[in-house]
Amino acid sequence: MNIRDENVLRELNLHPLWVRKNMPAVDEAVPVVAAAEAPVAESFQAAPVAVIPTAQPEQAAVATDWPALKQQVRDCTACKLRAGCTQTVFGVGDEKAEWLFVGEGPGADEDAQGEPFVGQAGKLLDNMLAAIRLKRGSNVYIANIVKCRPPGNRTPEADEIATCLPYLQQQIALIKPRIIIALGKTAATSLLGRDAPIGSLRGTVHDFNGTQLIVTYHPAYLLRSPAEKAKAWQDLCFAVQRMTP
Ligand code: URA
Repeated sequence: MNIRDENVLRELNLHPLWVRKNMPAVDEAVPVVAAAEAPVAESFQAAPVAVIPTAQPEQAAVATDWPALKQQVRDCTACKLRAGCTQTVFGVGDEKAEWLFVGEGPGADEDAQGEPFVGQAGKLLDNMLAAIRLKRGSNVYIANIVKCRPPGNRTPEADEIATCLPYLQQQIALIKPRIIIALGKTAATSLLGRDAPIGSLRGTVHDFNGTQLIVTYHPAYLLRSPAEKAKAWQDLCFAVQRMTP
């Protein structure tokens, strides 16, 4: 193990408890917890997430190519979030990525920089990616359920999610990832169209329009609850296992 690997594992609270092996074998080192056995963990959201995954009836058709979609998101004023944010945060990364990570919505740093996961939670996400030998921008795309920062970082409301979700659905249709990792309860419940405790959604493979979807904790929750990082590591190993031919 090199120094960088040790730092990554230390960041994830896994060192020296677990030692990452070559990725194809990692699932042997960390058995995947079946959904039925998975402990029910606290959701990182205090507030329940209302799920309305369909577009609002009055909403314009979503653009079907990248440049038009980016422009449409930039110009979007379809919900009340746009009036309170600095800029829209479209998403970032490899537009042909096999891995798609979906968070909730931009925070203050993302709102200022126009890129998802660039604050403290983003630093942890980058380390989580590094732990499974992935890197932002290289075979990885990162996006959020809503493109505008909710005021005070509150949870996006159902109508905001419903208005914004078609943009993410179109991003997914264009990227065609092999796997979607839903980070936290808002991402998971919005994409799956049903409310459930995040602990009950982990450890199983869900389907999003034909693409496998795995649920794990949001990095911001992991920063507040570092003991849960071990479970996130299990989830990442599960995802790697799913992606290993
Ligand atoms: N939290 C999210 O859900 N998304 C971001 O982009 C940043 C923090």
